[in-house]
Amino acid sequence: MKLAVISFSGNVGKSTITRHLLAPRLPGARVIAVESINADEGQAQSLRGSQFGELQEYLQSVDDVVVDIGASNVEELMRLMHRYRDSHEEFDCFIVPTVPPPKQQQDTIATLVDLHNVGVAPERLQVVFNMVDDREPLERTFHSLLDFLAQQPIASANTRCRVGMNEVYARIRGTGADLAEIARDNTDFKRLIARAGDRQEKMALGQRLATRRLARGVVPELDACFAALNLGRFAAGAVGAAELTS
Ligand SMILES: Nc1ncnc2c1ncn2[C@@H]1O[C@H](COP(=O)(O)OP(=O)(O)OP(=O)(O)O)[C@@H](O)[C@H]1O
Ligand SMILES: [Mg+2]
Repeated sequence: MKLAVISFSGNVGKSTITRHLLAPRLPGARVIAVESINADEGQAQSLRGSQFGELQEYLQSVDDVVVDIGASNVEELMRLMHRYRDSHEEFDCFIVPTVPPPKQQQDTIATLVDLHNVGVAPERLQVVFNMVDDREPLERTFHSLLDFLAQQPIASANTRCRVGMNEVYARIRGTGADLAEIARDNTDFKRLIARAGDRQEKMALGQRLATRRLARGVVPELDACFAALNLGRFAAGAVGAAELTS
C-alpha cells in the first residue's frame, strides 16, 4: 500500500500521523520524508519535491510506503502531478491531516481541491481530524471544512478518523520511540522510584511512567482512527483494490 500524507499547511501533524498513526500499523512500510524546511525526526530517507521523477521511480520499487510531504514542497508537487499526468495513481490514498484553526481548515480545503483537480477520486482522498479537543463537538470545530465537503463531496471525511490533542507526541518527539512499544512496557516504575537514589532519578522515572500512561490512552485511539480509515481496501488482493488503484 502506498500512502501520501499531504497538506498545504505546516504543523498540522503530517509527520506525527505518518510516524505514529500510519507506519506502525502497516507492517514493513517504509517512511519517506519529502523534505520540509524543518528537519524531520527519525532516520527517514529524504527526497526534495524537485526530485519527483526519482520519487516516482522509487515508488515502483517498493510495495508499502508512507510518503510524508513537507508543506514547503506541496505546491511544487502539485505542479509536477499536473505535468506527469496520472502520476497521482502511484498512491492508493492521500491522507490530509487538518486541525481546528480556521486558516488551516481553509488550507485543507485548498489541498483537497488541488488533489481533486489532478484527478484523485473522493474515496482516495481522506481527511484526518488532528489535535481534536474532546471538550468541543468535532462537527462544530471543523464546521467550515465539513460544510464545504457536504456541498462538494470531493473527499472522504469520516468523523471517526480523529486524533485527539495529546502531549505525548511532544514528549516523544525526536526520540524515534514507538507508542505501542511504550504502552506495552511492563517496567514496575513505582518500585524503581521507591528504590531510586536521588530526586533526579525519581523524576526521570516519573516522566517515563507518565509517558507510558499517556501512550496507553492514545494507542487505542490511534487504533480506532486507523480502523476508521479502512485502508485495508487498498491492500494487495483486497476486493476492489485493483479498480481503485488502476
Ligand atoms: N494530536 C496532537 N496532539 C498534540 N500535539 C500534536 C498532535 N499532532 C501533532 N502535534 C505536534 O504538533 C507539532 C507539528 O506536528 P508535525 O511535525 O507532525 O506537523 P507537520 O505537519 O509534519 O509539520 P511540517 O509542515 O513542519 O512538516 C509537533 O510538535 C507535534 O508534536
Ligand atoms: Mg513534518
